[in-house]
Amino acid sequence: MVKANDNYLKLPGSYLFSTIGKKVREYSEAHPEAKIIRLGIGDVTQPLAPAIIDALHKAVDEMGVRETFKGYAPDLGYEFLRNTIAENDYRSRGCDISADEIFVSDGAKSDCANIQEIFSLDNKIAVCDPVYPVYVDSNVMAGRCGDYDAASGVWSNVIYMPCTAENGFAPEFPGETPDLIYLCFPNNPTGSAITKPQLQEWVDYANKVGAIILYDAAYEAYISEENIPHSIFECEGARTCAIEFRSFSKNAGFTGVRLGFTVIPKELKAGDVQLHPLWARRHGTKYNGAPYIIQRAGEAVYSEEGRKQLKAQVAYYMDNARYIYNGLKEAGYTVSGGVNAPYIWLKAPNNMTSWEFFDHLLEKVNVVGTPGSGFGPSGETYFRLTAFGTKEATVEAVDRIKKM
Ligand code: MLT
Repeated sequence: MVKANDNYLKLPGSYLFSTIGKKVREYSEAHPEAKIIRLGIGDVTQPLAPAIIDALHKAVDEMGVRETFKGYAPDLGYEFLRNTIAENDYRSRGCDISADEIFVSDGAKSDCANIQEIFSLDNKIAVCDPVYPVYVDSNVMAGRCGDYDAASGVWSNVIYMPCTAENGFAPEFPGETPDLIYLCFPNNPTGSAITKPQLQEWVDYANKVGAIILYDAAYEAYISEENIPHSIFECEGARTCAIEFRSFSKNAGFTGVRLGFTVIPKELKAGDVQLHPLWARRHGTKYNGAPYIIQRAGEAVYSEEGRKQLKAQVAYYMDNARYIYNGLKEAGYTVSGGVNAPYIWLKAPNNMTSWEFFDHLLEKVNVVGTPGSGFGPSGETYFRLTAFGTKEATVEAVDRIKKM
């Protein structure tokens, strides 16, 4: 008899943002008059920049002409985009990454979720706690996480690295040695960042214990302070211990367009096995490449006009971040993040749990955020607000919370 993958049955509830979406829909149906402001999922609200729209239009026109029409994209990405990325995101920062170490995809979420496929099920993962749920959920689906304890919110075969106010929301080296270490900086959900010397310590640690760091740098465009690394490949020795994920969703508003990439250095190995060809094999077999028109749009992100326009877009969201941070602080909340990342992390007041505060905000002021416990046990009693709303909605939401 056919059997389902029962690892899926171990997953508690639905994906965090689907659960929130459902709760908000139900509330909205019961209270059609409520003017709900959504600062939950980190979805962008500003339209695509003109330089990107121009590139899209041009590429669409090319697709309508026999001589310039394109069929299947090369499965690892078009050379024009991979060369542009290698030059602008890496070589210009002194990182030794070549175009053929870049794998273009439909976004960082799918790459973060799929990368575990090229590793043995025997590997043990370490994650920050709280953490972007995709890292853990995708390993649960593969059967790598053991069993879930609903009372503690902990998986039996996962190493948790608590990120708390006490350690500045930066993980410490775990007591038990992991094989795969997921790090995301600037961090989702806490909005914290680590300095280059701190990241260098992780690279040294991974090289020493023979672990691989899976580094999610989706929010690097929001870094405003010096000495915060934009890429793990700024660190000495990262080529032998790191894979990096990048996204066009947050720096260029591509959440609905879909484009990202993963960097795997040629010398990166698991034991004796080179990982670059394994990911290339996976890409070739399971993926037909991001669409030509989208890759041309990605290339425009790096044009002079594109850069200027996107710098302004990032600044727009970071103005929101400042407004939320300052407003909540004035109102007496304990707040962090929002300086190098578009997320504000706040402590729920009056000993409320994360979900109690979620309901409280939704019911009292019709503002939606993300409960910290959805990101892991150490997120309990915390709450995340995103700076990706419109300026008007952000101001209104903060003013409503302040009056609460
Ligand atoms: C988030 O809200 O954490 C992100 O938008 C989720 C994502 O990028 O997939």
